[in-house]
Amino acid sequence: MAQGTRLNRKAGMDRHCRIIWGHYLQPPFHDGEFDAAYEVEAIIHSPDHRAVYEHVHRVLRPGGVFGGYAWCMTNRYDPGNPEHRRMKRGIERGTALSDIPTTRFVDKALQEVGLELLETQDRIELCDPETPWYLPLTGRDRDPRYLLFSKPGRFALDRLTAAGERARLLPTSTTKITEVVMGAVDALAESGRAGIFTPSYFYLCRKPTR
Ligand SMILES: C[S@@+](CC[C@H](N)C(=O)[O-])C[C@H]1O[C@@H](n2cnc3c(N)ncnc32)[C@H](O)[C@@H]1O
Repeated sequence: MAQGTRLNRKAGMDRHCRIIWGHYLQPPFHDGEFDAAYEVEAIIHSPDHRAVYEHVHRVLRPGGVFGGYAWCMTNRYDPGNPEHRRMKRGIERGTALSDIPTTRFVDKALQEVGLELLETQDRIELCDPETPWYLPLTGRDRDPRYLLFSKPGRFALDRLTAAGERARLLPTSTTKITEVVMGAVDALAESGRAGIFTPSYFYLCRKPTR
């Protein structure tokens, strides 16, 4: 929070922006306090998405807008398909998410709390198919920033964390945690390739005036 406040000041935004710490299931705001609200990959961490949307609806003034980008399972996700479920669970396990919603669920939940859906789009559909969003996660991206995801990068990471643990420089379970996170990396790439998951489902809605 202190760093955010500092950065706001540095950017000359401190007269317009105030950083407030809070839980989105208990937001410290009055009814109808805001003209607009947004979230980016944040509500995904809530065990109850609809409850967060209810709060957003409450704190918006009539006519106020709410938009965001959500991680979602797409229409191609089939909960009856064990392979699909395995990929979904792999993402959830390594990123500590309880249940990734479908795009359909997000649309329905937003409307159920009383918001009017203005626009939705899986922005991934706009991406160049030659360079899909999950490319860095496959280890085949030549960008040195993603070296860690390549086979040699993973091998080196595994050896380093194991050695660090043995030398008591790293906490125990570091190797295990790295393995779980890498499991999510693989599940993200796999589900991205299968088209059953999107990291960029855009939605925009409005609180009706009556
Ligand atoms: C994946 S990060 C996204 C951060 C930022 N929106 C971005 O795109 O860089 C998830 C965010 O959700 C926030 N978050 C998780 N649980 C929350 C809660 N119960 N109430 C409010 N924010 C929460 C975390 O603090 C974190 O900033």
